[in-house]
Amino acid sequence: MKRTEIATLLQNKPVGEKVTVKGWVRAFRSNRFIALNDGTGFNNVQCVVDFEKTPEEVIKQIGFHACVAVTGEVVESQGAGQDIEILADTVEILGGTDLEKYPLQPKKMSHEFLREKAHFRMRTQTFSSVFRIRHAVAFAVNKYFNDRGFYYMHTPIITGSDAEGAGEMFRVTTLNDAKPPLTEDGKVDYKQDFFGKPTNMTVSGQLQAEIGAMALGKVYTFGPTFRAENSNTSRHLAEFWMIEPEIAFGDINDDMDLAEDFIKYLISYVLENYPDDLQFLEERITKLERNLPTADRRPMPLTETLRFVVDNDFERITYTEAVRHIQNSKPYKKGKFEFPVEWGTDLAAEHERYLVEKKFKKPVIVVDYPKDIKAFYMRMNDDGKTVAAMDVLFPGIGEVIGGSQREERLDMLKKRMAEMDVPEHELDWYLDLRRFGGCPHAGFGLGFERIVQFITGMSNIRDVIPFPRTPGNAEF
Ligand code: 4AD
Ligand code: MG
Repeated sequence: MKRTEIATLLQNKPVGEKVTVKGWVRAFRSNRFIALNDGTGFNNVQCVVDFEKTPEEVIKQIGFHACVAVTGEVVESQGAGQDIEILADTVEILGGTDLEKYPLQPKKMSHEFLREKAHFRMRTQTFSSVFRIRHAVAFAVNKYFNDRGFYYMHTPIITGSDAEGAGEMFRVTTLNDAKPPLTEDGKVDYKQDFFGKPTNMTVSGQLQAEIGAMALGKVYTFGPTFRAENSNTSRHLAEFWMIEPEIAFGDINDDMDLAEDFIKYLISYVLENYPDDLQFLEERITKLERNLPTADRRPMPLTETLRFVVDNDFERITYTEAVRHIQNSKPYKKGKFEFPVEWGTDLAAEHERYLVEKKFKKPVIVVDYPKDIKAFYMRMNDDGKTVAAMDVLFPGIGEVIGGSQREERLDMLKKRMAEMDVPEHELDWYLDLRRFGGCPHAGFGLGFERIVQFITGMSNIRDVIPFPRTPGNAEF
């Protein structure tokens, strides 16, 4: 019999019809009730097994996460919690699971444990919800930009320039690592490498996106990004996805407006289209936090937080104001911060969290950072001390977006590159964009996993990407 998808079945409720559903067993109660899920939606369908029609041998194999096909009549459900159920005529085991050997068990399992079983964790309720939402955010990214006339541009993953300086890079090479060819002065001879020079995995598609913006006007990249920093935190991955729009004729204010509108759209999209998954994740967090002291709990339930972000303006302050707020804060005066704050130093995560979670209690955009702590390509402000850079800071996550207006003035850009030891010869094409047909432009990068983390309420970034890459870990 042709298979019916469970989401379709639950929507159409074809009572009286005979159907076949296929999926993975979420639960099997009293050797009688299967909660079956095939990934088409959040909800399971209940299948009622008939002892008389189902051989003992089959019943034994209906283990946790076994894959089964159930054929039977759709009836109105007697039990609470569902409108319809299937009275199984036949249960066919497509792939059994031996509970003695299957690594997952139908009980509470820690996320750390499940990370090691990443080939099975997507079958759990939490992770299937997380990865459905991850998909939804990716789709919403493309929809948002397409609907507004942006072109999706694929920027290279292997790059020949390491000039951007956004982070430590991973080397890409085909040279024999035991015995690489050497130059006369004993260094590795990259002329003999695959690309004839040293190459790395990209840390950002921005510089190439600027090429696109100088031709197509509004573009965005959305691809994998690699950073070899040894950051073992709940917000860092060595391989993550980044969305980088770039707009010609836009300044830093247009950039902030775009960033705020874009993030609000992504969140609204998930709120509207994935309410069941969100509701489940919210209840999960509420249960988890039940035993925590109030101060350690979320100030609002998950969906309320998301709605709050969508409905309220982000706070916009300058870096100089941010420093003043932090210096005037109670934790600063009581010496509670680990890192010092004075004008000219970068804000640490603890300072960003203070601004977002304590001072303003909403997302904050900090703009006009000191030039010395930001990248060479950011546009110099008239004060000669700050650049037109902005970071969007979120509760619980910290920085989700980093962006800037780009320096479009050739002389100024060259001056900054010289000051920051960025070799001109490596970025001649980038300078060409200022020599020929340049214009004011701006853009930003949104950390895809960080926004998915915020929307799903997951506390570790490793739990919102199917196969996380972090220092010491590249399984699967
Ligand atoms: O602030 P970043 O380094 O900005 C850039 O790379 C610019 N080229 C973007 C642009 O203007 N087009 O990174 C942008 C965002 C951060 O705000 C953060 O959300 C995310 O990327 N990010 C990471 N996410 C996960 N793991 C990491 N190691 C990350 N590093 C940055
Ligand atoms: Mg940044």
